[in-house]
Amino acid sequence: MRLVVKKNYDEVSQMAAIEIMNLINKKPNCVLGLATGSTPIGTYKELIKYYKLNKIDFSKVTTFNLDEYRGIKGDNPQSYRYFMDNKLFNSININKKNTFIPNGIAKDIEEECKYYDNLIESKHGIDLQLLGIGNNGHIGFNEPGEFLYINTHLTNLTKNTIAANSRFFNSMEEVPTQAITMGIGSIMKAKKIILLASGKNKANIVKELFTEKLSTKIPASILHIHADCTIILDEEAACLLN
Ligand code: F6R
Repeated sequence: MRLVVKKNYDEVSQMAAIEIMNLINKKPNCVLGLATGSTPIGTYKELIKYYKLNKIDFSKVTTFNLDEYRGIKGDNPQSYRYFMDNKLFNSININKKNTFIPNGIAKDIEEECKYYDNLIESKHGIDLQLLGIGNNGHIGFNEPGEFLYINTHLTNLTKNTIAANSRFFNSMEEVPTQAITMGIGSIMKAKKIILLASGKNKANIVKELFTEKLSTKIPASILHIHADCTIILDEEAACLLN
């Protein structure tokens, strides 16, 4: 696992966006794995900037998002589809038909999960997966527990995650308690992984991640055994590392 510490959030975002831009320029039909949440917003802003400067062409790019809330339609402003459209897709020349997000309102969830993994396989897998990290060490919505799921699946969000997600909702009652998420195996199959963490509130989990032990209690710890994983932190997120 390669560790890079940048001064601040803007520099973290710049580095992540440059990695993505370089990949697209090298392989215009590449497959990106994308994340939602606060952390990648700066990366998406940078990508939009490079697109407007004619430095990136997204027309042949395919994307797969990590997760979507259960029971929320894509046109709901709280959905991850809405988030991606607004934070990135609407501002670049990507073909929306090539942007995939699990269907949170699918009737047959098991079928939807299988379909999602098969779709990723049919596009020859993910070239670069962008990740954030939850305060509890989750990646995607692979929550800490006794074991980890390999494939895309329906998951019950932990209290900790529901509380963290509540900042985007009007009340606790509105926060979804379930999500469809790519599994740990789906994530680990990506050829390259970049995990971003920024701010003091991520310092504790980053410290735990770097104890270099694998544990299902810290799902992100599996990244230690990925062949090409870069962790990009800002100084605040890295402040507890020696
Ligand atoms: C989002 C996702 C989550 C977030 C994580 C960190 O698609 O899968 O794992 O990356 O919860 O969220 P932020 O960036 O809001 O701290």
